[in-house]
Amino acid sequence: MEKRPFYITTPIYYPSANLHIGHTYCTVNTDALARYKRLTGYDVYFLTGADEHGQKIERKAAEKGVTPQQYVDEIVKGFHDLWQLMDISNDGFVRTTDDYHIKCVQKAFRKLYEQGDIYKSSYTGMYCTPCESFWTETQLKESGGVCPDCGRPVEEVREESYFLRVSKYAPRLIDYIREHPDFIQPASRAKEMLNNFLLPGLEDLCVSRSTFKWGVPVDFDDRHVVYVWFDAVLNYLSKLGYLSDDDAMFKRYWPADVHIVGKEIMRFHTIVWPIMLMALGLPLPKHVYGHGWLVLDGKKMGKSTGNVVDPVKLIDRYGVDAVRYFLLSEFPFGSDGNFDNATLVTRINSDLANDLGNLLSRTVAMIEKYFGGSIPGHDVQVPEEDGTIIPIALGLADRIEECMNAFHPNEAIGEIFKLVRLCNKYIDITAPWLLAKDDEKKSRLGTVLYNLAECLRIIGVCLQPYLTRTAPKLFAQLGITDPALMDFDSIRKFGAIPVGQRVEKGEALFPRIDVKKELEYLESLLPKHDEPKAEEKIEEKAEEKTGGELPELLPEISYDDFAKLDLRLAKVIACEEVKKSKKLLKCTLDMGGETRIVLSGIKHWYAPEQLIGRMVVVVANLAPKVMCGIESHGMILCASDPADEQLSALTTMAELAPGFKVR
Ligand code: ME8
Repeated sequence: MEKRPFYITTPIYYPSANLHIGHTYCTVNTDALARYKRLTGYDVYFLTGADEHGQKIERKAAEKGVTPQQYVDEIVKGFHDLWQLMDISNDGFVRTTDDYHIKCVQKAFRKLYEQGDIYKSSYTGMYCTPCESFWTETQLKESGGVCPDCGRPVEEVREESYFLRVSKYAPRLIDYIREHPDFIQPASRAKEMLNNFLLPGLEDLCVSRSTFKWGVPVDFDDRHVVYVWFDAVLNYLSKLGYLSDDDAMFKRYWPADVHIVGKEIMRFHTIVWPIMLMALGLPLPKHVYGHGWLVLDGKKMGKSTGNVVDPVKLIDRYGVDAVRYFLLSEFPFGSDGNFDNATLVTRINSDLANDLGNLLSRTVAMIEKYFGGSIPGHDVQVPEEDGTIIPIALGLADRIEECMNAFHPNEAIGEIFKLVRLCNKYIDITAPWLLAKDDEKKSRLGTVLYNLAECLRIIGVCLQPYLTRTAPKLFAQLGITDPALMDFDSIRKFGAIPVGQRVEKGEALFPRIDVKKELEYLESLLPKHDEPKAEEKIEEKAEEKTGGELPELLPEISYDDFAKLDLRLAKVIACEEVKKSKKLLKCTLDMGGETRIVLSGIKHWYAPEQLIGRMVVVVANLAPKVMCGIESHGMILCASDPADEQLSALTTMAELAPGFKVR
């Protein structure tokens, strides 16, 4: 049967500095999706690349005293090395300085100009160079005058430019988004695009620049270079040969099945790009998925801030699969996630070394010990015991499929590890070492070990898209060499691993690591919190403002619902740290007529002495709760940014008496 095409892409990253763990996160997750589709029978084309034009690159090269081309060539080499190191299975790598790409951009630009969708006019606008984005007055008003994406200062740019008639296509795009609810994912991002950008009205987009040279020249007006975002998004077509003499790939793979991009560039991928495609008369990508950011100490990792984790150092120390596992399993793909060293090392030990590694080594060791290394026959089933793993193993394929089709690799890998843990429990329940003591139970022992070996095969099959090095090692120890036994469809029935097959114990899949030592090592890699350079200060300030994405408003409530809350003013008369807790402060509150203990998770933001004597707002009728052995009666209200970086306890403008009602 002919394989169905599946076209998946990452963003093409700027070679303005080396890539960090945030880019790696996106690429590894996209790689897992691509590998999964290949495993399930698709003809996958997976594209990544480098976005090499623009003023930012031109300036960086000038700072280094090299030409822009020399500058990007050097950094892009590092992209290739990193992807090779991370086992990224991309089929194509596009560079926007490649000849085919430049030609494609020029032809697309000319085509839109000739049909009237690009026109020449003059423009004064506010431009954010790091983001290569223009912003309107309304947008800047809402963001307090700084770039709404990154929070950095914008500069006034005045020039004669070419414009794309975005306004002409906006109504069609609004309809399209409404009629295709799974086009923009997660769904919250579709709402954001509609409400924040499309519905307020779009202005035509300036798509050329004439104040610098490092870009694709407009071929009919060489004073202009094409705007870097117009140039960049066309990579998804240029690599397929669109508008070239050989467009067979384009015919096969377009429209893309999914563009995976970070949430901050959703605007370009779900507004500008679809409008360009509509104008070119092409179908839109089936899905655009906006993933969340990895943050470090509450701040988005950024090339220019230097608050980055270097993936190469992690791979050198823990191996590719440990890093892939962490990036694939730890963070829900659509949300922001905090990169935390303690979690990294704990998960290597608990999930990989203990749960997975031990399951394999125990199973293989027992088959060697009790059956001379040959997988035993299986006949004595005990439904209540075997029922804890076999149905779960059988349902795994469907559950993974569901998660992967929803672009949730972390949930898919979670399903696999659920089976791993159930198998470990199965060993505890069935206690093979006791069965081995009784000759009459030899057949049951065989069944138990067979079930474990087959579950491990299923686990190995499922792990292939995620842990690229581990799956083959697992197969080798189970003696599996037949590709049919590694096939995804082979796990839809139980019992494919052949009886009599030889197993062979190998090295531990993941050696246990010394948590304390590793934490010290990892801490030493983190950027030191010295006085930042001036440029970094601006960026830090900008990012402080962003602090992540504001959560959506909760559903409306009635006044009666609100009136159920008894909010009171209270004075902090004593305050101390709760020793057992990293987060809690124990506050003694004068509520006007009574004294109460309230625990509050604000230790990170306040020293106890800062609070003593201050008025706070308390939810006074909240049911008491015991934390760290202390009963807390009420809750102190605070405001915070979504990343919980900045927090402030609420108080009143005038000094009022404790016990007063807040409403
Ligand atoms: O925006 N956490 O390139 P870029 C998670 N060239 N993902 C992160 C991340 C973080 N802290 N930091 C970066 C560009 N990323 C354009 C794209 S596409 C036609 C042009 C990932 O080098 C994330 O996927 O700034 C984000 O969208 C992308 O890197 C931005 O990379």
